Amino acid sequence: MDRDLFYTGIDLGTSKVCTIIARIGPEGEIKVLGIGIVPSQGVQKGRVDSPFDTQNAIKASLEEAQRYLGRGITSAYLSVTGDHISCLNTTGSLDEPNGNGAISSEDVQNLIQSSYPDVADSKEVLHVIPMTYEVDGLTEVRNPVGLYADRVRVDSHVVLGDAPTLKNLVRSVEDCKISVRSLVVQPLAAAEATLTEDEREMGVMLLDIGGGTTDMVIFRSGSPWYTSVIPVGGNLITRDLSAALGVPSYAAEELKIKWGHAIPDEVPSDQEVPIPGFQGQPPRTALRRHMCIPIRERLFETLKFALVRMQGAGLRQLPPGGMVITGGTAQIPGLQGMAEKMTGARVRIASPILIPGLPSELINPTYSASVGTLLWGMKHQGEKRPYGYSDKTLQKNKPLISVFRRKTQETTV
Ligand SMILES: Nc1ncnc2c1ncn2[C@@H]1O[C@H](COP(=O)(O)OP(=O)(O)OP(=O)(O)O)[C@@H](O)[C@H]1O
Ligand SMILES: [Mg+2]
Repeated sequence: MDRDLFYTGIDLGTSKVCTIIARIGPEGEIKVLGIGIVPSQGVQKGRVDSPFDTQNAIKASLEEAQRYLGRGITSAYLSVTGDHISCLNTTGSLDEPNGNGAISSEDVQNLIQSSYPDVADSKEVLHVIPMTYEVDGLTEVRNPVGLYADRVRVDSHVVLGDAPTLKNLVRSVEDCKISVRSLVVQPLAAAEATLTEDEREMGVMLLDIGGGTTDMVIFRSGSPWYTSVIPVGGNLITRDLSAALGVPSYAAEELKIKWGHAIPDEVPSDQEVPIPGFQGQPPRTALRRHMCIPIRERLFETLKFALVRMQGAGLRQLPPGGMVITGGTAQIPGLQGMAEKMTGARVRIASPILIPGLPSELINPTYSASVGTLLWGMKHQGEKRPYGYSDKTLQKNKPLISVFRRKTQETTV
């Protein structure tokens, strides 16, 4: 990470747009210089559905973040989500790397290149992340640089997105005169801000349950192994409550945040909550336990979807590191207990890790992907998108993209 450079991360969520501008201080600490959090508009579940609204929301967020900076920013890292995100695991191999010498960083770059998949024109490769190397039959090699070998192989985790969807997201930012340096998928951004090294090594499922989507990544042996986005989130809970209680969604949202619980049996059996009057109806009360039933059902369904996807990917049960849940919806009391009961595994509700210099305002599950986008940008600052404000098209099937760097690896593409 270079010091004295400005880094900007933009998290374009269904509920909020969060821009964070930061710098690395002289002691290597992160100095947050500006935060812009505004309600999201024009983005639903990771797709732009109203470009002008999206642009206005991004502009407002950028303006707020730049207010105390005294200068404008020109580029940013952008995190993306949506059910167009998919993944696959590929292999690549290289015979006689570097002649008879030791495997070089360049060999490893070529090796990783060989694991890039051929994708349709409608898809864009977002990440190619080396998971593990095999060197002359020796498996589970973390970093082959410096080894002598006749043949080296890599297993890579590849994340893809829908090219037109990504193009619209990028253009929304570029139309605000900000170039997008690189994209990161939100599950990986959230992982950057929440998962410990031990959890990644043991293997863990991370869920970022936001407003419109549940972003999911499974780590195994230190690397992302499965990445997916489920198009359900906390807004569905609000919608269910609105229908069940017969109140407008802003009132349902308030009731959810104030009285919501994932385990109805854990709230006092006789506790009543005030339901505001609507359309001439007088205010009334409802049993809190009853109100929490749709919340339990929707959260149960969300967790079930994640477990079904995990099983579809070939894992019968959660890895030993269990499950980590973050995102705004992770704040519903009882969710941890519910997930533990469902899975029999260790479950942790996570906020962004305590980075020196990070304002307390951002230490909340809502901002995990936002903080993670910034951290991702700081770690991957050398990576640039190959298209700019004036470019008309995205390049296809090219290794544009950020390669995840593990602590032990020197390799980049
Ligand atoms: N204290 C709380 N208790 C329960 N739910 C909450 C709480 N605070 C926020 N939420 C819910 O969290 C959701 C928003 O989460 P978040 O900010 O992570 O979403 P987002 O990143 O904008 O959306 P997405 O990632 O899905 O595109 C909303 O559904 C909101 O109702
Ligand atoms: Mg989000």
